[in-house]
Amino acid sequence: MSNVKTVLVTGGCGFIGAHFVRYLLDHTDWRVVNLDKLTYAGDLGRLHGVDAGDRYQFVRGDIVDRSLLSDLFRQETPWAVVNFAAESHVDKSILDPWPFLQTNVMGVQALLEAARRHNTDRLIQISTDEVYGDTEGQEPSSEDSALQPSSPYSASKAAADLLCLAYQRTYNARVLIVRCCNNFGPFQFPEKLIPFMISAALRGNDFPLYGDGGQRRDWLFVEDSCAAVLAVLEKGPLGSTYNASAGSLRTNLEVVHALCGVLAEEGGLNQSELLGRVRFVKDRPGHDRRYEIDARRIRLELGWSPQVAFETGLRQTVRWYLSHRAWLNQVMSGEHRAYLEAVYTRGWGLG
Ligand code: NAD
Ligand code: DAU
Repeated sequence: MSNVKTVLVTGGCGFIGAHFVRYLLDHTDWRVVNLDKLTYAGDLGRLHGVDAGDRYQFVRGDIVDRSLLSDLFRQETPWAVVNFAAESHVDKSILDPWPFLQTNVMGVQALLEAARRHNTDRLIQISTDEVYGDTEGQEPSSEDSALQPSSPYSASKAAADLLCLAYQRTYNARVLIVRCCNNFGPFQFPEKLIPFMISAALRGNDFPLYGDGGQRRDWLFVEDSCAAVLAVLEKGPLGSTYNASAGSLRTNLEVVHALCGVLAEEGGLNQSELLGRVRFVKDRPGHDRRYEIDARRIRLELGWSPQVAFETGLRQTVRWYLSHRAWLNQVMSGEHRAYLEAVYTRGWGLG
């Protein structure tokens, strides 16, 4: 037991974090401690079947809580920290930025400080392509491109990246940063584009596309994202930043059209009826038109490349949601239903 490395995964009950906890348990012999506050976006159900024992422990708590972190780092002496914990939804950051600043900035500061004081070997900060801002009409962003965030969410993530880099320079902190593009796959919370539209399709609701639906995003299947993070954790030289992208840029309208096709094939829904439900609604304020990142560094230095094509991942995702409607219904209740009611029904007047 004493020779086994412990990795502290924060936000391990969220969408990517839960996939990553499973990925670590499947692909390494490490012990995983999962620290999660269980906000509306966190769900223990994502880790159903992963039982507490020698290799896995769940701790409910807030990464902003310094005394909790101090106790946890003392007890667990993690070899590494991988920080997925965040407020992650751009639309919600526009409605209320405060929780984003609290968790995404102060939480990262608290983790950096705990890792520094306890000589943790490495801290991986999970960041986003959104820190580079809009790349419309520009070359894809490299890891050295300027940070020009547009939303309170992306500004909070950029601030966290800058804190990591400042800790590295000032204290020789042992940090790495991974900047991912849009992830998708099973268990994603239905506030994000793909599960939002799947859930609307199943409820018979319209598909609200912001502006003209021509904004482009790069879509990475969540398992590929986990593989990228593990590659960085195992092989990344300390102090490095890596972009991780799929090279699978699509407009939001193209994504929704593809989704309608797969929903028709897999769920027996009527494709033309689904396509007729697209509604162009008021645009997201500050909406970036395009994100595109250059992921040559992680490919060349660490040998990572995405394995799941967008169409394959989309079909797998749709099949998963079709067979997990109870999960969708469960997470759609409570806080999220009130949000939907405010934005979708009262905001856009959609049915
Ligand atoms: P998510 O919203 O699904 O999950 C976030 C998790 O963090 C939840 O389990 C929540 O309970 C937990 N959490 C929130 N605040 C916390 C706090 N103060 N203390 C402890 N736990 C807390 O997010 P996700 O989509 O899985 O994203 C994970 C990370 O990846 C985030 O840092 C996000 O910025 C980044 N990212 C996400 C995407 C994407 O497409 N989803 C792309 C690039 C980067
Ligand atoms: O790019 C990485 C980022 O991807 C992550 O850092 C964020 O945590 C994650 O939430 C995601 O941000 P986006 O804003 O790109 O994701 P979202 O799914 O909210 O929206 C994707 C695109 O779809 C975006 O251009 C907005 C648009 N959209 C979204 C919803 C929910 C619509 O047009 N209509 C919708 O109803």
